[in-house]
Amino acid sequence: MSSRELKNDRILRAFLRQEVDRTPLWMMRQAGRYLAEYREVRAQAGSFMDLCRSPELAARVTLQPLERYDLDAAILFSDILTVPDAMGLGLSFATGEGPVFAKRIQSAADIDALPQPGANNELKYVMDAVRACRQELAGQVPLIGFTGSPWTLATYMIEGGSSKTFAASKTLVYDQPEAAHRLLAKLADTVADYLTGQVEAGAQALMIFDTWGGTLDPERYRDFSLAYMARIIEALPREAEGRRVPVTVFTKGGGQWLEAIAECGCDAVGLDWTTSLADARRRIGDRVALQGNLDPCMLHAKPDVIRREVARCLEEFGHGPGHIFNLGHGIQPETPPEHVAAFVEAVHELSPGYHGRAAATSTA
Ligand code: CP3
Repeated sequence: MSSRELKNDRILRAFLRQEVDRTPLWMMRQAGRYLAEYREVRAQAGSFMDLCRSPELAARVTLQPLERYDLDAAILFSDILTVPDAMGLGLSFATGEGPVFAKRIQSAADIDALPQPGANNELKYVMDAVRACRQELAGQVPLIGFTGSPWTLATYMIEGGSSKTFAASKTLVYDQPEAAHRLLAKLADTVADYLTGQVEAGAQALMIFDTWGGTLDPERYRDFSLAYMARIIEALPREAEGRRVPVTVFTKGGGQWLEAIAECGCDAVGLDWTTSLADARRRIGDRVALQGNLDPCMLHAKPDVIRREVARCLEEFGHGPGHIFNLGHGIQPETPPEHVAAFVEAVHELSPGYHGRAAATSTA
């Protein structure tokens, strides 16, 4: 079998709301600190960015969760902040702390001076990592490429790192909306090129992480976050290797805007745990697939509680295709790996009942 031939395309089918035998599953941040083998490679690499910059180590870490668990996708090991780093802001991660930029955006002049790094220039190391992942995966499961949304990236660039209030980024939006739009447009065009590069290098599905879109008011969410994700999606190649490349948009805290999100050109909408899958399916399930949405804190609970909650999520979505099982946000570093095993086992055992011919005919 050629290494490009997919042995498991369950997730690509579910993204297009096609029939599957069971609900496909992957976890946001599935490669990371909850795995001892990740912490080992991370220590060997020296810094987080050195790990991202080494295609060989990035590919090794990408595959680690698949060696432990029977998941239906791999997600490229990298970070959303590679893009601002390549724009010259100088990203670093102090151990145990969040990201820090050496420089941050403080004025309209800073925005106009920002360079637009190319997928095959400054960000080529990410494309090399995508190619290395595809090589190592050898068709086992599809590879998901990703980016941060322009708004989410902008918050880190303006705040200089993580933030609780987003005061500086929101002040730019409120006081200098035109400058904010210039920054977001620049980011959208850079990110569109970045994702296109990932598809050309072998990414088979894409995800846009809009982690901080939910901090905006409804009108500004539409104009300063969603509009730029739509602009990116419009610019993307939607087919590669003879298949559609599905795009998932995940706005954390975006549950009240699902109808608008479903219209942005995406194939799937990611949900956090504050929206019920039943409600989301009723509102937008005839247009897009739904990904989510177990609270990552649930993985700290006892395995029998985890199993019961998996059953609840499956029952909420109901019968038929168009559901990709995931957490409602990234897995936490303190998560016991054996609880993840219980989670995966529950999805495998309980979800086939919601698919197949019998299930399809019982769909209302
Ligand atoms: O999902 C995966 O397994 C792929 C890898 C991935 C990482 N970050 C690795 C990572 C992905 C998809 C991301 C996305 C990301 N990064 C987001 C969007 C999703 C989300 O969680 O909201 C955001 C906001 C970031 C920014 C970021 N990167 C922060 C705030 C931090 C530090 C705090 C934290 O949660 O870890 C990072 C560092 C980071 N990115 C780590 C990993 C495994 C930990 C770094 C380390 O090993 O020291």
